This record gives sequence, C-alpha cells and structure tokens, in this order.
Amino acid sequence: MAAVDYLGRIPNNVDLAENRRLQRALEEWQPRFRDWWTEMGPVGFQAKEAYLRTATSVDAQGWAQFGFVKMPEYRWGIFLAEPEPGRLINFGDHKGSPAWQEVPGEYRGVLRRLIVTQGDTEPASVEQQRHLGRTCPSLYDLRNLFQVNVEEGRHLWAMVYLLDAHFGRDGREESEALLQRRSGDRDKPRILGAFNEKTPDWLSFFMFTYFTDRDGKYQLASLAESGFDPLSRTCRFMLTEEAHHMFVGETGIGRIVQRACELTREHKTDEVRKHGGIDLPTLQRYLNFHYSVSLDLFGSEISTNAANFYTMGLKGRFEETKKDDDHQLKNATYRITTLEGDRLGASEQPALTTLNERLRDDYIDDCARGVARWNQIIRKHGIDFELGLPHRGFRRAIGTFAEVRVSPDGRVLSEAEWDARKHEWLPSEADAVYVQSLMQPVTARGKFANWIAPPARGINGQPTDFEYVRLT
Ligand SMILES: [Fe+2]
Ligand SMILES: [Fe+2]
Repeated sequence: MAAVDYLGRIPNNVDLAENRRLQRALEEWQPRFRDWWTEMGPVGFQAKEAYLRTATSVDAQGWAQFGFVKMPEYRWGIFLAEPEPGRLINFGDHKGSPAWQEVPGEYRGVLRRLIVTQGDTEPASVEQQRHLGRTCPSLYDLRNLFQVNVEEGRHLWAMVYLLDAHFGRDGREESEALLQRRSGDRDKPRILGAFNEKTPDWLSFFMFTYFTDRDGKYQLASLAESGFDPLSRTCRFMLTEEAHHMFVGETGIGRIVQRACELTREHKTDEVRKHGGIDLPTLQRYLNFHYSVSLDLFGSEISTNAANFYTMGLKGRFEETKKDDDHQLKNATYRITTLEGDRLGASEQPALTTLNERLRDDYIDDCARGVARWNQIIRKHGIDFELGLPHRGFRRAIGTFAEVRVSPDGRVLSEAEWDARKHEWLPSEADAVYVQSLMQPVTARGKFANWIAPPARGINGQPTDFEYVRLT
C-alpha cells in the first residue's frame, strides 16, 4: 500500500510521485478543474470559509479532517481503498482469475464508457446545485450543500485518475470532455437524463440527495465488485463519502416532515402552507418526481449491456460476494414486473439480462426504508398521513413502462385518465411557485427557515448553532 502523500500538489495514496507521466497529466488537468469549479461551482460563496471535511487517507478510523477552507482551495485528492492481497475476479466468465491491475485489452472500450458515465454524474450534480447557496435555510444546510459539492468534485478526480492512469491518450481526452459538458446544456449536455434536470430549490436538493445520490450508491457498489481492481478500490472509497450525501437527503426531508407535523399540531390544521410549511401532499408529489427520474437511471429491465458487463467481470451485483450462487448466472432466472397488454404482470426472465432490474429492486428496498422512517415521524405526531413510493412503472421514460401511463398505485391508465389526474401526483407549476416563495436565505447562527426543523445534532460534534460558514 502506498503511503499517503498529503503535501504534494495533488494529495494521493497512489504513489503519484513515482509516475511522472501520470503526475504531469493530472497536474495539467488540475488548473482546468479549478477553472471549471470557479465557473460552474457554487455561485457566490467561493471566497467564504466553510467548515468542510477533507479526505486525507483511507484509514477507517479517521480518513477525514474537518476545518475551515475556501472552496477553491479545497484539497481534492486521489484516494483508493486499501488493496486486498490476492483479490480475485468474483463473477462472470473470468471468475476465479486474479483481479486485473491493468485494463484488459478486449474490454477497454466498455470499461472506459462505464467510467466516463459514472464520472460525468459527479460534476453534473455540482452544476445542478450551484444556485442553491443563495437561498439556504441555515448555515448548517449551507455547509452540507458545499460538502456534497466538493466531494462530488473529488469523485470526478477519482474517475479522472482512472482515465489518465489506465487509458492513455483517450483517457486524457475523456478527462477533458468531463469538464466541457454542462448539465442541461442543449448542445453538450451531461450523459444521463436525471443529471440534466434542474435542482431549483432546497426541497429538490434534499430529494436529489436522497433518491439520486442513492442511485449513485448502487452504481458505485456494483462497480466496487469489478474485476478491474483500481476501479473497485476507487469506488469502495467513494462509497464512504456517498453515505453523507444520502444522510443529508434523508435528514433534510425528515426535518421538513417534522416541521409540517409541528405546524399541523400547533395550528390544528393540515393546511400548513398558511403557516409557511411544506405540506405532506406536496412532499409526496416531489418524491414521486425524483423517485421516478432516479429509477430511470438503472436503465432498461432487459439489457444485454448489463449482461455483458457482468459476464465480462466489469460490473457485479450489489453485494455480489455475499450472494450464495454460482456468480455466473448462465442458467439462473430472475422475476421481473412486466407489461402484458394494458395490465401489469410478472415473469421469470434470464438472470443475466435482468441485472439492471435486480439492482433497481435493491435500490427500491433501500428507498423504502427511509420512507418508513419519515412515516414514523408523522405517526409520532398522531397525524393520519402516509408517504409512499409510487409504483416502479410510474412516469418512467426508460424501459418497459416508458410506453404506458401508470398510476402511483400501479394501474395502467389511458392518456385521458393520466391527464386528468397527473397534477395530483406530480409537482405543479403552483407547487413550484409556492416552494420557491419559501426559499429565503437564513444565515444567522443557529437560525433555521420556518419550513424545516433544526437537525438533531451538528456536524462532527459541533453544536447546531455553530458558524458552519463564515459569511462575514
Ligand atoms: Fe459522487
Ligand atoms: Fe453523491
């Protein structure tokens, strides 16, 4: 294991100083990354000091330091999880062979595409969230936003490292292109649909970090199983950081739910908008939107690409090595939801081509756990309302269900029925206007916007009224 070099221009634990060609390539990319950050990163706070965590090693006991830093001076580094001596390829046609330390030539193009697609989401989300700082509900939340943003920046570094270290000239071109595409841009958009949507308000931000960052968790977890060992080690460490992003989402929505319940109790009405809260039906509509956009990120139910990634040993299942089967799946089947005419059904399909759907199932179970915790908050306040995940076929743009209209409770609808009811299920223009009207910055220490409850505790043992971002 290489020692941590934290003092060089690029902090790393990959012995960068020993590889001059790579070091030079990354040092040339670094100022361009900073230019991208200045141009496309958080608007308006670049000169302010924020209390941020910075990865300084991959030691499970203490891999990060907390301290005040101006974001453009953040120490973005390259950290891979410790290698596992003797690690093998654990699935697919090469199962049992030693894990690849270099790119297997026959899979070069496929592997590069996988890395670029993952890499592209990282700067995309920073771009999507860049205007949120100006309407932060508190200094605590402002700091969390910036923490997520700088870590997505580090995730970009992680993918660029793989491209530059293992894909030669094409890799460097891809690294450059990752700084050129722009979220929502008509001519050079980001690769995946969800990463071209706007994140116009903090409710959307919390939904995004809960649902869309969680897609990231499942993609990273299945890439962490990869037979290409550098990719596996990179993704394993990224998952450590990703956990905080989903925490921000889960607790953010939980605090909005909490506040809605408090206002209902206090004023004895569920019309919490009258009292400046976000009502639970509005939360449900935002949830429906972000969940369905995120489900699309897993791709089609039936996918030969997914089968190939698996058979090639490049992308495994979630917790591949914990599963008790042959890890080749040539004869195995998997049950998926299908569309039979205008009805939903289920059928057994080959396990290999349905790997996207299996990963989506793991994701759905995970999403449901957080929803259950939000419902506990509602129940504790004695309020008769339940949030829920809509049916997987609801408002899908990719796969089987893209062709039909499906209600949240899983009925196939006619176009007329859909049109008549979609406003019950999806955020309307009026919802967006209302939510936007709440987006007034609150930046006094220890104060929180009226629509969101304070967090249960602060960051890194600091109090909730800590000055998480120094604005003055
Ligand atoms: Fe990320
Ligand atoms: Fe993330």
